[in-house]
Amino acid sequence: MTAFTCYNPVKLVFGKGMIAELKTLIPPDVTVMVTYGGGSIKQNGVYDQVCAALAGRTVIEFGGIEPNPRYETCMRAAALAKKEGAGFLLAVGGGSVLDGTKFIAVAARYGTGDPWAIMEGRAPVSDAVPLGAVMTLPATGSEMNTFAVISRDSTGEKLAFASPHVYPQFSILDPETTFSLPDRQTQNGIIDTFAHVMEQYMCAVGRAPLTERMAESVLLTLVEEAPKVKASPDDYEVRANLMWCATVGLNGWLGCGVAAQDWATHMIGHELTALYGIDHARTLAVIMPAVHRHQLARKLPRLAQCAVRVWGIQTGDDAARAAQAIDRMEAFFQAVGVPTRLSDYDIDADEAGRRVAERLAQRGAKIGEYGDLGEQAVREIVALAR
Ligand code: NZQ
Ligand code: ZN
Repeated sequence: MTAFTCYNPVKLVFGKGMIAELKTLIPPDVTVMVTYGGGSIKQNGVYDQVCAALAGRTVIEFGGIEPNPRYETCMRAAALAKKEGAGFLLAVGGGSVLDGTKFIAVAARYGTGDPWAIMEGRAPVSDAVPLGAVMTLPATGSEMNTFAVISRDSTGEKLAFASPHVYPQFSILDPETTFSLPDRQTQNGIIDTFAHVMEQYMCAVGRAPLTERMAESVLLTLVEEAPKVKASPDDYEVRANLMWCATVGLNGWLGCGVAAQDWATHMIGHELTALYGIDHARTLAVIMPAVHRHQLARKLPRLAQCAVRVWGIQTGDDAARAAQAIDRMEAFFQAVGVPTRLSDYDIDADEAGRRVAERLAQRGAKIGEYGDLGEQAVREIVALAR
């Protein structure tokens, strides 16, 4: 096990009816800015629950944060927060609303200059408006982590930042709020969670037996629950399990004592979203099997372990088991209902590989668990996803 520091101050408030707890979670004397997306919260009753819990408070609203939240929208929200003196931001929605709100929190407290510098890694985050979340889509883990991913129209970039200043003070997770998710978003959430676990688990270097088993537990739970949610989308227990998986998938625990993390799939995936507009999770379903196939030799011991412990494969030697583990993962993504090939999106893999590799190289991105996947390797990976 490598040395590690684990710090996560988010108060998780989990379960049916818990939105009412907002009363006690937000300080009484501040102006609260409620942020939300395109309107799902007004259709599924979540907005009404939030309004009821905040009755009597000074509340302003900012709606319209889009999936893959846009810098331009967030800057308008930050201006409103500043103008109205918002002392607390409450994000109500999916990962995009929360990520956007994390950026708004930072931008509203940013001095002079353009806060996009934070996204480019050129400026540190030193302050943020306190924030909390009512999370309605289990996928990103944003409810219990320091990350936010923001897209910028004018440059076509999609970049991430991380700062402990944007840990939500609390996150409310009521599985009932996810009953209204369209199938596509439920599927996306399962794939994104699965990929987050894999990015931390599927590395060759070092051993962290407890953390590895925690990762395998999340993977096994996803594999068990995915068919159930398809059959019974209104089953509270199933929705609750998926929600808890998403949080544990990217709240830092699965990185404890782990020598290296990968994230090549996410880095390539973000470029595919920026270039072609494919949903975040759907890019991962296409790229992750390709990354594992390309890196098979290096990842072989962990892939073989995953084969036995997650997929129950008992036959063959390690090499055969490792190859089967990748096939089983790809088949799982397809069974969830998510395509795994670029051709499913009518995208030319060679052209896409060239464009993605160029963009990552221009940014000097360090890719893969060893940080050594260059332009050629990225092109080969994307080609494998044809
Ligand atoms: O905008 P509204 O109307 O709310 O509708 C949303 C949106 O259209 C809808 N939705 C959310 N909850 C719903 C619902 N519809 C019905 N019922 C509900 N309960 O779902 C659509 C997609 O929402 P979005 O927030 O975009 O999805 P997700 O949570 O998957 O977030 C994706 C974003 O998170 C980033 C991605 O890159 C992408 O920008 N990520 C953030 C991470 C993080 N902060 O740690 C890590 C991830 O790897 C990822 O990169
Ligand atoms: Zn993700």
